[in-house]
Amino acid sequence: MENNKRPENMERITTPELAEAFIAEQTKALQAQIGDKKVLLALSGGVDSSVVAALLIKAVGKQLVCVHVNHGLLRKGEPEQVVRVFRDEMDANLIYVDAVDRFLDKLAGVAEPEQKRKVIGAEFIRVFEEEARKLEGIEFLAQGTIYPDILESGPVKAHHNVGGLPEDMQFELVEPLKFLFKDEVRVVGKALGLPDGMVFRQPFPGPGLGVRCLGAITRDRLEAVRESDAILREEFANNGLEGKVWQYFTVVPDFKSTGVKDGKRSFDWPVIIRAVNTRDAMTATVEDVPFALLQKITARITAEVAGVNRVLYDLTPKPTGTIEWE
Ligand code: XMP
Repeated sequence: MENNKRPENMERITTPELAEAFIAEQTKALQAQIGDKKVLLALSGGVDSSVVAALLIKAVGKQLVCVHVNHGLLRKGEPEQVVRVFRDEMDANLIYVDAVDRFLDKLAGVAEPEQKRKVIGAEFIRVFEEEARKLEGIEFLAQGTIYPDILESGPVKAHHNVGGLPEDMQFELVEPLKFLFKDEVRVVGKALGLPDGMVFRQPFPGPGLGVRCLGAITRDRLEAVRESDAILREEFANNGLEGKVWQYFTVVPDFKSTGVKDGKRSFDWPVIIRAVNTRDAMTATVEDVPFALLQKITARITAEVAGVNRVLYDLTPKPTGTIEWE
């Protein structure tokens, strides 16, 4: 356990200069650890795995093999951003796996929240394992573990732990961020040249939109979650709420209600907006979003998202509600 404790004299990384020093030191350490061997990373596009990727690209270049699994539960534009930033701009060795059909087929009819999480987690490991088996000479597995993951201080499990790999696939771990807090990871990511949209983004759960498409996931409702979420994010960004509100997203339940559209009766889904602030995700308060903005977002979602005829704003703090709906 000794090497899982942040060194007491380690300075808090708060400035670009301190980030540069950390990067220089880690680059050397990573080169010494990895040598001329290959290292594998599951790159989700979240802050932690993205910063690990950028750090390893700097240290060992193409010896890093990134695997990005698109499980179909990512937000609009995310898989494209991962490919653009890492393959096109940083010239990384990136394997993009389109596993959308596989995940959605496995999830068909699975309605219980924890069961959904289990199916997504197990399938993720299976896809990752298959990709890893196609590669030769991998000796290391990089992970975006950060200090709060080690401390297990809260319910936010943002790290993409692929520790469920089978016995014959045990690699030596590379965890360059394991003593950093989230704010320090962001400072390092910025210094490594990652885009703000990646470095300062809000928390996003591992099972992704899967826990926001309530009950058994269907493709049409999943699209309604993805499209309404994109509108919410765009409007929050345009109205100064991005970076101010801790977490905001939309949820689509698995029931319909009546409405009228173009003079005809409709029978469609509602979209629920959730926007909360918190310190540690253990408790949360609801953001006081201006009413006019909520009306504008409602008008856009009902006009632009197929299958939706109502928008609701969730006024429930945590407790009694959780942040997510599942
Ligand atoms: P709840 O809903 O428990 O959420 O109030 C607290 C924080 O944890 C995130 N969350 C998850 N993150 N895998 C994750 O990586 C999960 O299964 C999961 N469930 C909830 C949630 O988004 C919030 O930030």
